[in-house]
Amino acid sequence: MEPVKIGLLGLGTVGGGSVTVLTRNADEIARRAGRAIQITHAAARQYDPERIEGLGQIGRISDDAFTVVDDPEVDIVIELIGGYSPARELVLRAIDNGKHVVTANKALIALHGNEIFAAAQAKGVMVAFEAAVAGGIPIIKAVREGLAANRIEWIAGIINGTGNFILSEMRDKGRAFAEVLAEAQALGYAEADPTFDVEGIDAAHKLTILGSLAFGIPLQFDKTFTEGISRIEPQDVAFAAELGYRIKHLGITRRAEAGIEMRVHPTLIPHRRLIANVDGVMNAVLVMGDAVGPTLYYGAGAGALPTASAVVADVVDLVRALTTDPTNRVPHLAFQPDELTDTPVLPIEAVETAYYLRITALDRPGVMAAIAGILSEEGISIEAIKQKEPAAGETSVPLIMLTHRIEEAAMNRAIERIEAFDGSVGEVVRIRMESLEG
Ligand code: HSE
Repeated sequence: MEPVKIGLLGLGTVGGGSVTVLTRNADEIARRAGRAIQITHAAARQYDPERIEGLGQIGRISDDAFTVVDDPEVDIVIELIGGYSPARELVLRAIDNGKHVVTANKALIALHGNEIFAAAQAKGVMVAFEAAVAGGIPIIKAVREGLAANRIEWIAGIINGTGNFILSEMRDKGRAFAEVLAEAQALGYAEADPTFDVEGIDAAHKLTILGSLAFGIPLQFDKTFTEGISRIEPQDVAFAAELGYRIKHLGITRRAEAGIEMRVHPTLIPHRRLIANVDGVMNAVLVMGDAVGPTLYYGAGAGALPTASAVVADVVDLVRALTTDPTNRVPHLAFQPDELTDTPVLPIEAVETAYYLRITALDRPGVMAAIAGILSEEGISIEAIKQKEPAAGETSVPLIMLTHRIEEAAMNRAIERIEAFDGSVGEVVRIRMESLEG
């Protein structure tokens, strides 16, 4: 049988890794796919010919990516350029030309996935995006197929390696935020704009995709609440540890009574949870299904070969699906397109969670009682309190409180009142807290 012909857009880190994997494992991949797979046409604006030669086999290389998506020889386009544009235009044109698409572009899928999947369905082609979430971990396959029997209750994941690397180094080595970020950039893990990593935008792209797959709702990146890690202070990492918790930057999506929660934020989680011990650039995703219970998926969330592992697995899936009836393929968002629901995504004010609060309190009688009184009036129950001795010459002390679960709107009111109270100084630090129990 004729080899399947691939058009590859982008020869950067993941593009290079994909060439390497497709060349190195060509025989085994062909035995799995049922056909040989060849990269016949690639696109790259600037590249070092020696580096490209060392990667593996590529047919010709053009500098205009549109010539690849318009190449009549190409069966499957792999989009590894990243970003919103021209990636969107390239993918839509490839679909219009009747080509299947593989992409690692989480930003593209999170923002334009609904449009792209509708176009693909109309044309009878597939768009595969395993590498868009958690790099080499086959989490999309797991949620979309492996867990298809379950009513998924929630997903919580460490889905940005750069952010996890920064938090791990801060906790273990007391290193400064900026220094660790620079190292992640040098290692090639960080996004082109590293604020996407530290402010949680990259994780929110990925969580948007997971939420849709889990609950059968259209992609809604604009409704995903996002809070980064740049304001986490070493003292909060230390207080959390004293109380038996670790701070992780989690993406959480949950089925609540009134709708779906979609949120990315620093989170205190009990240190004994397996996911609390996922450190460095590694990713992990914890999925709670009603039948299976909790399942945890761990692995490299970024990097050339791990991400290429997911890209090439998608290519193999597509090669196997080339001859199948388009109406009987695995749906892009796990649920049949006409079965997606309009269940609302909840605003963060309606989300219920527990909290860690750090209040800078004046060291005088009645302050603790007054703060406890405010919390009680807002219906917030305190689970633990920790007060440090004032440092020599200091008139204020850090007061740490852990609360039971409460709606965020009530916590916002309480924090506003505590900040206005003359027994507290400055802003209250609030970090959401999750037990991640079944
Ligand atoms: N910047 C991302 C990360 C790369 O650090 O996880 C993989 O999406």
